[in-house]
Amino acid sequence: MLSTFLGLITRYEGRKFVKLNDALDESQIVGLGTDSDNQISLYIHIPFCKSLCPYCCFNRYLFREDEARRYFKNLTTELNLYIHRGFKFSTFYIGGGTPTVLMDELLGFISYLKEKFEVKQISVETTPREVNEENVNLLKEAGVNRLSIGVQSFNDSILKSMGRAFCTGEEIREKISIANGKFDTLNLDLIFNFPPQSIETFEADIEILKSLRVNQVTFYPLMPSPHKKNALERRFTRVDTSREKAFYSVILRDICGDNYLPSTVWCFSKGERIIDEYIINFDDYIGIGAGSASLLNGNFYTNSFSLNRYEELLTQGKLPIMRWRKLSEHELLYYYLLSKLFGMRLVKKKFHKRFNANIHQKLERELLFLKLFGLIQEKDGEINVTRKGMYPISVMMREFFAALNGLREYCLENQI
Ligand SMILES: C[S@@+](CC[C@H](N)C(=O)[O-])C[C@H]1O[C@@H](n2cnc3c(N)ncnc32)[C@H](O)[C@@H]1O
Ligand code: SF4
Repeated sequence: MLSTFLGLITRYEGRKFVKLNDALDESQIVGLGTDSDNQISLYIHIPFCKSLCPYCCFNRYLFREDEARRYFKNLTTELNLYIHRGFKFSTFYIGGGTPTVLMDELLGFISYLKEKFEVKQISVETTPREVNEENVNLLKEAGVNRLSIGVQSFNDSILKSMGRAFCTGEEIREKISIANGKFDTLNLDLIFNFPPQSIETFEADIEILKSLRVNQVTFYPLMPSPHKKNALERRFTRVDTSREKAFYSVILRDICGDNYLPSTVWCFSKGERIIDEYIINFDDYIGIGAGSASLLNGNFYTNSFSLNRYEELLTQGKLPIMRWRKLSEHELLYYYLLSKLFGMRLVKKKFHKRFNANIHQKLERELLFLKLFGLIQEKDGEINVTRKGMYPISVMMREFFAALNGLREYCLENQI
């Protein structure tokens, strides 16, 4: 009940947040310095996959080698535009799509990053299909610290219904053993509350997962965009969010404990690990690549989702930004609170530095409400999410991402 209420508020706020317009203010795009000074990270989007999963709302296209090679060139052009504006980065998240679809281009791009910046961390996403000895060694040699593999499930029948029959559960396990121990962080992504999934199949997935002894796992609640949701429901049954809590309780019971501690309400790590939710660790981030989003100086903006338009604008020497909005103070505060609670902790001093005010001055009502229901507690200058608070925060985050997925779907379908 409480989760549903918080979810509805977030849905409303999330939809407002993603209502962007096309009035671009380029004067706002100036470098802020390095991550350590000003907390800015770079997200790099590679929108190609060898097959397209029916539930996925990221900007992605079926892989074509010539198109992908051109894209990597454009990506370098876009990065150079930011470099010329004085941006410096040291933390890089390469996501997709599937960044490893064209390894020579990916490695070339990573070399370019190392040439231009003092690289501290590189995180790369991949699918089990691309995991093999050769690729793992190449990524390691290139200095990748974190590899994240999209497993989704180990159950063959669920993999098939997810459109991911390219590897069986058994093959996925073998591939994970190739990569395990090679990177500072090896993360596995799993999805929960997919329509044909039952609690029993999910519990079996978690048993397998635990036996693999990887140092990080991220569980995503299914978050389809409106059209993807309809398509899934035509094929299976209703996408029923009332089942979600039962799945999440299994995660809390079987994963969140002595061995794995929550880095976010969805990501559980053994020890200190890199997480890919750059929205938590960095107040500002730039996204490059088709369909990427950025948050800079209180502005939220997205690049063109269309590969042609993306290339066209870069060829004209312009940043490929299509939608833009300056967020209000209320929206920035709300986003800050949500993203930090998603990451389990908000440091009051950092809030003060960011907003030049005490958090209680700005968000007293919200904090009182969350505290009253036992979702957060305050201690030693921090606000922490309690175990009871984890599921409600997960629901809020799901609703926020669902709003973002709605924007992605709109932009992709209209080739904005
Ligand atoms: C952008 S994908 C990249 C990983 C890689 N392409 C793969 O699929 O193996 C990152 C993760 O997002 C999650 N994801 C994608 N679409 C989702 C959706 N509609 N709802 C929930 N999670 C989703 C999946 O768990 C996936 O591993
Ligand atoms: S889930 Fe991964 S492989 Fe599937 S379409 Fe999305 S990005 Fe591509």
